[in-house]
Amino acid sequence: MRFQALPTACLALLFGSLSQAQSVSSVSTAAEQTRITCPSGKGVGVIAARGSTEDPGEGRLLAPIIANATVQVPGTTLTSVDYPARLFPDYLGSEQEGVVALTALMRSYVAACPGAPMVLVGYSQGAQVIADVVSNATTPMDNSAQPLSMNDVAGILLIGDPSRVDGKPFNSGTADGDGLFSREDSTALEAMGDKILSICNDGDPVCDRGINIAVHLSYDETNGVEATQFIVSKALNLAAPKEPKAPASNSTTPGANRRRATAWVA
Ligand SMILES: *[C@@H]1O[C@H](CO)[C@@H](O)[C@H](O)[C@H]1NC(C)=O
Ligand SMILES: *[C@@H]1O[C@H](CO)[C@@H](O)[C@H](O)[C@H]1NC(C)=O
Ligand SMILES: *[C@@H]1O[C@H](CO)[C@@H](O)[C@H](O)[C@H]1NC(C)=O
Repeated sequence: MRFQALPTACLALLFGSLSQAQSVSSVSTAAEQTRITCPSGKGVGVIAARGSTEDPGEGRLLAPIIANATVQVPGTTLTSVDYPARLFPDYLGSEQEGVVALTALMRSYVAACPGAPMVLVGYSQGAQVIADVVSNATTPMDNSAQPLSMNDVAGILLIGDPSRVDGKPFNSGTADGDGLFSREDSTALEAMGDKILSICNDGDPVCDRGINIAVHLSYDETNGVEATQFIVSKALNLAAPKEPKAPASNSTTPGANRRRATAWVA
């Protein structure tokens, strides 16, 4: 294992000024609906929120996970949250912009694809964005009359979540600490715990306050199969088996999981 500390400057800048949450009342759902493709068949609408500094779209880390799930459940579609995903300056301002953008996108999705299930998939800053929106789901986030409904959310996949809290039943992976911005109130998340999988491994500086940034950057390799399987299982409305803490088991080889997931589709 290569150990590499997250530069102290990065950590300091993460704590930039918190900008005011904006109202999303002015966002036109009509315009945004044009970039949403509704799922078909057993597919789900994946809504992806990328991590800090990743290129616009679903991001480098989530891309292969979502692509593999789409192969296993044809009819699955992808829409990415359009937000800055800035690390610095002002990480928290960027994250709040993400909260506003995801809230609007979920409303647009429900309007464009009524009754179609969605799976929220977020990595790093994007995971915090999703967890924040879900945490506020029972209170109106904007001036709209309707509170944001979680009824159509079939699954919530969080990878390397900075707002992670240790010991939650929906946690997976080898981490045993809290994230950099650990959540004070997890009540709403716990109420939806059966829909959530939050993956974080030991030593991750972001979700486990560790010192090994390589852990944070390699979830596609270390937990890609588990993540893919979770999306597939939610699409097919089956319980997702969790991987054991030790990654040594041969029952979690990609081939084994592909066969199992394929069997579900069949
Ligand atoms: C809920 O949303 C408000 C802004 O609308 C934000 O200030 C607050 O931090 C959010 N709470 C949680 C738990 O995410
Ligand atoms: C996606 O599937 C390919 C081909 O089966 C596999 O090589 C790759 O490891 C998978 N990626 C993830 C992130 O699971
Ligand atoms: C897993 O490994 C054990 C021993 O190493 C072996 O007995 C078992 O058959 C293997 N299972 C699979 C599914 O390959």
